[in-house]
Amino acid sequence: MPCAFIQRSNSSTIIHPVANQTTNNCAGVIKLDHVTKTYEEGGVQRVVLNDVSIEFGCGEFTVLLGKSGSGKSTLLNLIGGIDAPTSGDVWIDGQAITRMSDTERTLFRRRYIGFVFQAFNLIPTLSVRENVMLPLELGGRPSADVRRRAEALLEQVGLAHRMDAFPDRLSGGEQQRVAIARALINDPLVVLADEPTGNLDYDTGKLVLDLLDTLTRQAGKNLVMVTHSEEVVGVADRVFRLRDGKLVEDHLAPHQPAVSV
Ligand SMILES: Nc1ncnc2c1ncn2[C@@H]1O[C@H](COP(=O)(O)OP(=O)(O)OP(=O)(O)O)[C@@H](O)[C@H]1O
Ligand SMILES: [Mg+2]
Repeated sequence: MPCAFIQRSNSSTIIHPVANQTTNNCAGVIKLDHVTKTYEEGGVQRVVLNDVSIEFGCGEFTVLLGKSGSGKSTLLNLIGGIDAPTSGDVWIDGQAITRMSDTERTLFRRRYIGFVFQAFNLIPTLSVRENVMLPLELGGRPSADVRRRAEALLEQVGLAHRMDAFPDRLSGGEQQRVAIARALINDPLVVLADEPTGNLDYDTGKLVLDLLDTLTRQAGKNLVMVTHSEEVVGVADRVFRLRDGKLVEDHLAPHQPAVSV
């Protein structure tokens, strides 16, 4: 799909970006080039991703479907640079993260990638505000800027009144909204969400998905989400299924059942 969301995006409606990372490379912000991932267990090789080559992104909302164990989380982790393929390259915005040193990749990830996990993964000893600030503080930005940005984001996710609370005082939906604010604090080009509503009830999950969709679309970001939610499949720009190590685009996605366990 062309860059509809980038053209439609209106960054003045969202918090001020830390850096302008919008890309014009609409051939594919995310590119997998002959990516294979195998795991060895007890002397047996398991091929989870088998020579996958694909390009996507460009302000798109992409959904990944597939049975449990089909490699969805593995694929997100490769795109996010928290795992490395056995062979092949992963390119983000024209940069081969698979050819970077560990330090370069860590810095790249901090700048370009935001993660939202099923289990929220907030740090229990930090307040809501501090959790959201953390990724930028690690990057050494002046703390007053970071604080302002964190507070603006927390306002956007409807948690301005809980900034000083600790995560264990928040509901699951509230914790996931904090995690969304944290994922967006570095104004990432790519937001990766791994079953972000897996631990939430239906209504809360719907709110969280709406928020994630709205905030990433407004800013023209590339959202890649693993989910079984049929509503999400219906509103996604592109839907892929992982099956037998291959990633196949599902053009009929809105009319197909999303859950395939
Ligand atoms: N570190 C590892 N060592 C060995 N095997 C692994 C490792 N990580 C993942 N796997 C295997 O790779 C396969 C894909 O795992 P992955 O977590 O990507 O699946 P998934 O599609 O996300 O599943 P789910 O929907 O249950 O979260 C699984 O069979 C899993 O057991
Ligand atoms: Mg998974």
